[in-house]
Amino acid sequence: MLEQDNCKVVSFINMKGGVGKTTLTKEIGFRLANTLKKKVLLIDIDPQINLTQSIFKIFGYAQSEDLAEKASIEENSTKDDDIKVTEASIQNVLQGNISNSNPTSIKKAILDIPNTNLSIIPGEFGLEFTTRNLNSGQLENGIYNFIEDNNIRENYDYILIDCPPTYSSYTIAALKPSDYYIVPVKPEAYSMLGVDMLEKVVEEIKKTNKPYFKDRNLKNLGIIITDVREKEKERTGILNLIEDIENSKILKEKGIRLFDNHFLHNAALQSDMAYLIDNSKATKYSKPNLESLTNEFIKYTEKG
Ligand SMILES: Nc1ncnc2c1ncn2[C@@H]1O[C@H](COP(=O)(O)OP(=O)(O)O)[C@@H](O)[C@H]1O
Ligand SMILES: [Mg+2]
Repeated sequence: MLEQDNCKVVSFINMKGGVGKTTLTKEIGFRLANTLKKKVLLIDIDPQINLTQSIFKIFGYAQSEDLAEKASIEENSTKDDDIKVTEASIQNVLQGNISNSNPTSIKKAILDIPNTNLSIIPGEFGLEFTTRNLNSGQLENGIYNFIEDNNIRENYDYILIDCPPTYSSYTIAALKPSDYYIVPVKPEAYSMLGVDMLEKVVEEIKKTNKPYFKDRNLKNLGIIITDVREKEKERTGILNLIEDIENSKILKEKGIRLFDNHFLHNAALQSDMAYLIDNSKATKYSKPNLESLTNEFIKYTEKG
């Protein structure tokens, strides 16, 4: 199935928190792997590790015995479905602890979730502390080198990277190996100013790291407007805010694509960390919405 390096690496980024980066990484990633049978690797480079927490909760994992025990108690789980401990961590990737001559050492980076097409490089709680001794070069090149040295692209159709909301070496680490970045925005006043700022930051990163972007020209895949309440559009004035985004100067001047599909609001995403739209019964709005959104995502990653 996998063609040589047909893999697309996409960073989900916005230097604003709470816009849906983590949720979209998880939902698009899971739909690609689950229903569409694509091989998907998720990478959690956000020290807040929300993506990791969510995936661990869904599939029953923890990063240490202590956390596993705590999770078991919270879950009231019996011995049979005990929480499994994984040693996989982004920390090992950034520290360069993975040896490409030793195939089992990949397990220190990537957790393959059994009976799925989904894998994850989990984030690490306290990453800023555990990587404090690394110089910025090590941090910024960590994911790129790991992917190159271990030919990781050959094993996946999609690698999706969940970025932190603040600008740091982790942002550069995510963008260096990426073919594309995708920008979730909430329909709010001034949200396009954040996009303008992000474009400037990406330009600067490209300029100062030219050799990395020579073969792969890191493109903006587009903007997704998130958390849109379909039924309340007109009442809340959301429609006006969406129009403002559609007509914004920044999109036209920089030729940035806006996704036709918005990501619809679904309250279950807030109340249940283990919720997955693709596994849900939300057949009226959310599921068809994720289906169209993911199809649009695939279309753009294929044509560039
Ligand atoms: N479409 C949506 N409908 C309802 N809640 C959402 C939706 N997308 C995200 N959320 C919620 O909004 C909050 C922020 O989303 P998150 O994906 O964590 O943002 P980010 O990663 O950009 O900080 C979370 O509580 C999440 O559950
Ligand atoms: Mg997040």
